[in-house]
Amino acid sequence: MAALITTPRLMAVGGGALADLPSLMARLGLSRPLIVTDPYIAGSGILDRATRLLDGARIAWSVFSDTVSDPTTEVIGTGVELLRDGGFDSLVAIGGGSSIDTAKGMSVLFANGGQMRDYKVPAEIPQAGLPIIAIPTTAGTGSEVTRFTVVTDTETDEKMLIAGLACCPSAAIVDYELTLTMPLRLTADTGIDSLTHAIEAYVSRRANPFTDGLARNAMGLIARHIRTACTEPQNRPAREAMMLGATTAGMAFSNASVALVHGMSRPIGAFFHVPHGLSNAMLLPAITTFSAPAALERYADCARAMGVAEEGEGSQSAVARLIDELRRLNDDLKVPTPRAYGIDRSRYDELLPVMASQALASGSPANNPRVPTTDEIIELYRRVYE
Ligand SMILES: [Fe+2]
Repeated sequence: MAALITTPRLMAVGGGALADLPSLMARLGLSRPLIVTDPYIAGSGILDRATRLLDGARIAWSVFSDTVSDPTTEVIGTGVELLRDGGFDSLVAIGGGSSIDTAKGMSVLFANGGQMRDYKVPAEIPQAGLPIIAIPTTAGTGSEVTRFTVVTDTETDEKMLIAGLACCPSAAIVDYELTLTMPLRLTADTGIDSLTHAIEAYVSRRANPFTDGLARNAMGLIARHIRTACTEPQNRPAREAMMLGATTAGMAFSNASVALVHGMSRPIGAFFHVPHGLSNAMLLPAITTFSAPAALERYADCARAMGVAEEGEGSQSAVARLIDELRRLNDDLKVPTPRAYGIDRSRYDELLPVMASQALASGSPANNPRVPTTDEIIELYRRVYE
């Protein structure tokens, strides 16, 4: 069966690419943007740089700067109200995955009405909404190139996965210079998120030759540069590699899907407010150990792409090196266990059945090389706790 590939129509990639914002808008015939961002970016100087560029091109803009990490239906509702009477023709999302995902949610609801939960996977989104130009400031969720948004339902605390062409930005500006000021923890968490995207896209049951190349490329870039990006924030080659890795990993998983790590990570994030990349990192070594026997060759390829195994090395030994490297990476980047993060054991245990059922319902575990039962998911949650 042919792979169906979704990507943005236009991308400006490289240091200083932010300057291309007005020309990208002109190429897409857009002239009245609502900028969607968070209070940090609004105060950091990055928003000012973008608005000065728009002013210079005589493009009238407005700003919604109230996005929160882990976007909620409530914040998206407020954003949609702003869209109703603004006469906007586009959204310019500047920030981490949360701001980009918020813009996606706003675009979908503005065009389709109803509630965000009406469009939860596997529901279809009937209408494409306002075009989005996504400008990531982390490297990153890859949301600038994906057909997904993840939104927390304010009423139920569920982290919902929403997917479709309507969620894919029309254009992306991938400018690693915007990440030079990212603090260490954010660099580490978003970097491991990207690595998880690449690994899961590569081992996914929906992987295809197109996404395989992107995923291998991303794994190589991220594995070789993540530690440097953390310890030397101003290291431009490392920042550039991490940004390219994040975006190519995004293109890979958008078209091959993520798998069990992401499926199990979303409930941890929703119930215990663990940053997304961090909850992935907590799970990645244990889930790789669980899944590898079902796709030994594919995981061995990951070890080779990351440069932790030799090209000619046997698969069993390459996979052992991969698991070692993932554990070492967690140690080096100071990734805590759920327990060390301060998650209460009894509350965690009590929620395990709900977390397992939400993980399965998201559909992501079905893409895993080894598809777990509910009991196996609960057991994996228990295993990573300590
Ligand atoms: Fe992710």
